[in-house]
Amino acid sequence: MAVNFNLYGKTAIITGASSGLGEQFARTLAASGARVILAARRMDKLEALSHEISNAIAIQMDVSDKESVARCFAELEQSGKKIDICVNNAGIAARTPIFEKDDKNDFMSIIQTNLMGVWYVTKAVANHMKNYGIHGSIINIGSVNGNAIPAKGGTAYSISKAAVIHLTKTLVGELSPHKIRINCISPGWFRTPMNGPDIEQIIPLIPYGDIAQSSDLDGLILYLASNEASRYVTGSTFTIDGGMSWGGKL
Ligand SMILES: NC(=O)c1ccc[n+]([C@@H]2O[C@H](COP(=O)([O-])OP(=O)(O)OC[C@H]3O[C@@H](n4cnc5c(N)ncnc54)[C@H](OP(=O)(O)O)[C@@H]3O)[C@@H](O)[C@H]2O)c1
Repeated sequence: MAVNFNLYGKTAIITGASSGLGEQFARTLAASGARVILAARRMDKLEALSHEISNAIAIQMDVSDKESVARCFAELEQSGKKIDICVNNAGIAARTPIFEKDDKNDFMSIIQTNLMGVWYVTKAVANHMKNYGIHGSIINIGSVNGNAIPAKGGTAYSISKAAVIHLTKTLVGELSPHKIRINCISPGWFRTPMNGPDIEQIIPLIPYGDIAQSSDLDGLILYLASNEASRYVTGSTFTIDGGMSWGGKL
């Protein structure tokens, strides 16, 4: 019998849907039938995307701000939304070298967005799913920098992603009795605004010999979003990186 990746009748919220991987996740989930809630700070980008995707709405959310997250979830609940899938994708990156005198507060901003943002949204959506009896799927976006290969000069980014990977495991015990699953994807390198034009220089360091294509996470996001396909999968981190973690030379 064919595996069911059909998401008709399901609603997904995607943070950081205004750009890069988040935009791609939104397109992929919507193409499989899900209603999508596009969340980020830049409403102009979200609204433009919501006009392209069927069954999409945009909501302004700053994941680093607990009040902003709480306000959005209250609004969504007031309008009767029931969320089945949450993709914790919003993130920022900056270098935080230890010998640099002025780090422009980058360290705390990265932790506040990449770790606290995931915590605030996960707490809000897990409570929502529990209260409405939804057997939901939470998908965190980590990074290869959080598992096998920390980024040199990028301590804050690497530890924020390592923490997200560990948060994914830590919450299994509390979420599983409510049949809420939580998993993590650790991507390698993608051509998104986060990486900029210099990304091509990394190609010789990737065993598979190329930067990832924007569609390379489509199958995994659908698998993890679908309760039928990944019913028994929780607490897992999936690395998609062209072999970088095991054969790379970063
Ligand atoms: N690209 C890669 O190679 C790569 C590899 C591994 C992991 N990742 C991870 O994948 C995720 C997406 O990265 P990307 O490459 O797609 O980056 P991107 O193109 O720069 O997009 C980042 C997204 O996060 C949103 N965001 C940032 N701060 C936010 C905040 N405080 N509140 C709400 N939204 C916020 C941005 O939207 P607004 O500015 O509109 O708020 C934007 O939509 C990140 O978590 C990143 O760490 C990326």
